[in-house]
Amino acid sequence: MSKLLVTGGRKLSGEVKVQGSKNSTLPILAATILCEDESILFNCPKLSDVDATVGILRYLGCTASRSDDTLVVNTKAMDKSDIPHELMLKMRSSIIFLGVLIARCKKAKMSLPGGCELGPRPIDLHLSALRQMGIEINEEHGELECSAPDGIFGAKIALSFPSVGATENIMLTAVKAKGTTVITNAAKEPEIVDLAEFLSSCGAKISGAGESTIIIEGVEKLHGTKHSIIPDRIVAATLMSAIAATKSKATLDRVILSHLSAITPVFEQAGCELSFKEGKLTVASPYRLHSPKLIRTMPYPGFPTDAQAPVMAMTCLARGITVFVENIFESRYKHVDELNRLGADIKVEGKVAVVDGVRHLSGANVRALDLRGAAALVVAALSSQGKTEITGLEYLKRGYDDFEVVLQTLGADIKKI
Ligand code: EPZ
Repeated sequence: MSKLLVTGGRKLSGEVKVQGSKNSTLPILAATILCEDESILFNCPKLSDVDATVGILRYLGCTASRSDDTLVVNTKAMDKSDIPHELMLKMRSSIIFLGVLIARCKKAKMSLPGGCELGPRPIDLHLSALRQMGIEINEEHGELECSAPDGIFGAKIALSFPSVGATENIMLTAVKAKGTTVITNAAKEPEIVDLAEFLSSCGAKISGAGESTIIIEGVEKLHGTKHSIIPDRIVAATLMSAIAATKSKATLDRVILSHLSAITPVFEQAGCELSFKEGKLTVASPYRLHSPKLIRTMPYPGFPTDAQAPVMAMTCLARGITVFVENIFESRYKHVDELNRLGADIKVEGKVAVVDGVRHLSGANVRALDLRGAAALVVAALSSQGKTEITGLEYLKRGYDDFEVVLQTLGADIKKI
């Protein structure tokens, strides 16, 4: 089992490219099933979650080949409509295949995603929406068996929570449905907009993506297309945290500033100087970070839950108290005990975490317990005095493409052993 060995205390500098967005790549890969054609995706990150999704496409009878960051996918020859349990287990977000399999095959079978490191991952919003579109769904023995004997019909769907996955599944089911679908209280994340842009370039008729009401007019057929995945805003926030935590100045290339609208103010409150020019964001940290006081995670455009752990690692060294309120997932503080092993002073009460900034952290052996928690431990290790060993790298490679190489480019003393 590989692990990361980090010798902290080194300043970072220079410039590094931000990878393509994991949470944009996954739904777009599922969407290729609707085209029954070849699609070419640029700027696809090399991640285990992407590999798992490509594995499902290949199991279904599609072809997919990668050269560097370009993925060529052809779903013409698809001849299955079920996903076996072991492939579903590899990735919680495989539920994103539900809509496209029903839309193409008028039936689908897969196991319920179950829970993950973040707590239960309910899909009630997905299922109630699909039932409103005429899909019959049978849930028993941990399996989902779906069919659409009379076809799929557009519907007016009001989401009780702006769920990213549910919004995506409804869009994917609606693009070839009979009639028009209106989603209200839709998720507004940039990854929703990227999916809508991909689908529109395949011939879909979608308006309002990125706002809270999305209108999809069903069309007969979609064709393949070429599409470049947007940069990963959570990886950008993670790199910003590493630069700030190591009191450094460095530049991130391929940043869409508007995607970071709830993140940049936090770094400015912490005393960082940010400058942006032609897609490049330069972060200059102060000698001592100030606490940004209060961070509450919210649906986009609020502060993203995925950035909570890496930004918390940065606040461990900020002068003063930072209060985090995690409003999206039930158990997303698994990194706190491990950060405290590095000398941080964090107390958790339910969905609230209180970070009391310390002068320095000191290296120790720590283990990652989920994807963004792994990234938080890397950020903290870079700013700790001495050596840190991090295990649980299978979590890190789910969402970060060659992260240790990216950080070595910025001058960090980090290696996989
Ligand atoms: C997506 O997950 C992302 N994953 C998550 O990123 C991200 O944290 C999350 O959106 C929120 O932004 C992908 O895009 C692949 P949700 P998703 O449906 O779609 C509850 C990462 O680290 N809910 O918006 O599963 C749910 O329990 C990952 O990259 C229901 O109650 O998120 C959660 O509390 C982690 N019923 C909240 O909504 C439902 O039917 C947000 O879930 C669906 C969701």
